[in-house]
Amino acid sequence: MAEKARIAILISGRGSNMAALVYAAKSSDCPYEIVLVASNVPDAPGLTLAHAEQIDIFAHPHKGLSREAHDTIMHDAIVRSGAEYVVLAGYMRILSDGFVRKWADHMLNIHPSLLPKYKGLDTYQRAIDAGDKVAGCSVHLVTAELDDGPVLAQTEVAILPDDDADSLASRILIAEHQLYPSALASYVTREAHPDWILEQVRQRALALEETHERLSFGSPGWRVGGEKTGKYFAYFTQRLHGEASIGLLVKTTGIDEQTALIDADPDLYYAPKFYGKSGWIAIRLDTGQTDWDHIADWLRKSWQMVAPRRLTRLSEIADQF
Ligand code: GAR
Repeated sequence: MAEKARIAILISGRGSNMAALVYAAKSSDCPYEIVLVASNVPDAPGLTLAHAEQIDIFAHPHKGLSREAHDTIMHDAIVRSGAEYVVLAGYMRILSDGFVRKWADHMLNIHPSLLPKYKGLDTYQRAIDAGDKVAGCSVHLVTAELDDGPVLAQTEVAILPDDDADSLASRILIAEHQLYPSALASYVTREAHPDWILEQVRQRALALEETHERLSFGSPGWRVGGEKTGKYFAYFTQRLHGEASIGLLVKTTGIDEQTALIDADPDLYYAPKFYGKSGWIAIRLDTGQTDWDHIADWLRKSWQMVAPRRLTRLSEIADQF
């Protein structure tokens, strides 16, 4: 199994979501490990639990410190722990823009509502008062706006006719404990998900001039030129014909180049079964170490090989600047 993602959890209180993450991480196939639990509240009950589970803990009260100064202390402790991700679990502090920026795309939060509904506090009563039939919880990426980043996963929880805020909160908490570990696992392994990989290729292929996407024998492909006369310059392959699980097919100048590439880097390049003879080369996208600039270069080269002259001429001129 690939190396586990290293997680720092920030809490302010009880830490039941933290506990759910800690226990999930004990499973050998969990893709993350908890390397630190940190708090702004030195006597937060969650810290005692984390310590008993032999996880490093760190606490520093925020009292008397500016938001930035306190965040810097927390940030330094997180960096020292070697964590790659920050997971907020009932961390009741508004974070400074600087801290949020440092952990952009690497910081998650759980919030007890179906975002974008009911940001902030008192989410349960607000859902009940609004007459909602369902409430729930959301895991989202943290951005500078409170409870506003892209939602990664949600669980709906039915509101019962005699629910009050407390009864609803305790049911939502059960849902939170299920949702957070699984959402975190998906997020830290996202770069191995075919959908994520496809999206990376798609963005780069469609950034080239006059391109569009079209399925070819069930696989996404990208063409340059008009809808009718366009030509394919790349295909995405996924577990096709027993080949490596995910790859990108692009055009080379021919068999010689194809052979040279495979000889030079057989872990990255292979001959795609049904296209090999025409000089197409397959590049593995499932190594976990894909250099996306390199993929963008390949897409451009392949595009140049099939694009109409009027387009390549323009791009040659642009390349000179
Ligand atoms: C959880 O319900 C969490 O969703 C909420 O605080 C609680 C913490 O409980 N977070 C927020 O409201 C964030 N805006 P826990 O300490 O037992 O995990």
